[in-house]
Amino acid sequence: MRILVTGGAGFIGSNFLQWVVPRHPEHHFINADKLTYAANLENLTGVAGLSNYEFIRIDIANKNAVGALFSTSKPDWVVHFAAESHVDRSILGPAEFIETNITGTFQLLEACRASWKNFEGKLFHHVSTDEVYGSLGATGFFTEQTAYDPSSPYSASKAASDHLARAYSRTYHLPVKITNCSNNYGPRQFPEKLIPLMILNALEGKQLPVYGQGSNVRDWLYVGDHVEAIWQVATRGRIGETYNIGGNCEKANLEVVRTICRSVDEILKAPSGNLERLITFVPDRPGHDLRYAIDCTKLMTELGWAPRETFETGLAKTIQWYLDNAAWVQKVRSGDYRQWIAKNYENR
Ligand code: NAD
Ligand code: DAU
Repeated sequence: MRILVTGGAGFIGSNFLQWVVPRHPEHHFINADKLTYAANLENLTGVAGLSNYEFIRIDIANKNAVGALFSTSKPDWVVHFAAESHVDRSILGPAEFIETNITGTFQLLEACRASWKNFEGKLFHHVSTDEVYGSLGATGFFTEQTAYDPSSPYSASKAASDHLARAYSRTYHLPVKITNCSNNYGPRQFPEKLIPLMILNALEGKQLPVYGQGSNVRDWLYVGDHVEAIWQVATRGRIGETYNIGGNCEKANLEVVRTICRSVDEILKAPSGNLERLITFVPDRPGHDLRYAIDCTKLMTELGWAPRETFETGLAKTIQWYLDNAAWVQKVRSGDYRQWIAKNYENR
């Protein structure tokens, strides 16, 4: 089978390829990525030399380029990760989110519809987020039946892309599966997201900016558990269905940051509580969702998936990865990223 993976040079896409390409030499994987600031081809060392893998640089929002990609690559499956993914960036500049997340998904769906003569053995797996459901109060969980209620330009653009994928399933019978996952963390995550930002700032003795009171709650899942869930759904899930993916691991942001401080204190052999003094409360994110919590009973009971990592084991692996990959960190912290941080986070 020929499997087109979009956005495979980003955080989750590259962890997916690192996991799946060596395990499945019977399939050929085509990684199609625009290489935005969030991408890094060094995320793919290990798979880049394998004969069942190739990389193509492409903007999925470009209709002609997507058409040409489908003509030459002839994919049987599309696993669609490519997106603008950072909520804060979407608040400061939504245009690229509309272009990539909505138009890009539309162009891929159209290419599938045009190039797949019949849908036997074909699949469009759309990788999405729990943020489409909006915010929970103190209780309750998102299920696959929860109504969409997105708060940020990012989550609204992902909601639109989910709706398009579902509409192509219902209208054209395109074989679509959708997964909606909670917050990921782990190796190769771009250090604008909470966990890698706090790890690196703590290691460097920089301020640890916590939005509002730090009381917003996220459900955390180790990226390796997410990619296994995606493969389970793609290979064994039901066509036309949505599956929620989560870690059953709710934590308030302040608790996450304090846990990182304690772990890094231990690693640096600093006195206990040393790094907590760097925690700085900064103005809240506009439209900040209070709480996410996922009910993934459907995935667990239908497909037998369960996360392998606890927050403690996953976080330890993650911190170790950032310690072991200083050159990677140095590279992503230069260039575009440094300029963006300077412009938008200079007062935090
Ligand atoms: P990321 O920002 O790390 O990577 C995104 C990748 O997409 C990059 O390699 C980038 O170059 C590529 N890309 C962006 N625009 C493109 C375009 N126009 N054409 C081709 N490639 C393009 O994102 P991530 O955190 O790895 O997220 C991957 C997917 O998973 C996204 O769809 C995101 O919405 C979803 N998701 C993420 C999380 C999370 O916690 N990070 C949780 C649930 C779902
Ligand atoms: O829920 C899934 C989503 O998780 C994905 O769809 C998104 O792509 C991904 O970016 C993530 O979104 P969040 O907005 O939840 O992640 P982020 O790491 O940006 O923030 C996590 C929480 O930490 C959130 O409540 C905001 C807060 N935060 C974040 C940053 C960057 C801070 O308090 N300080 C910070 O510096």
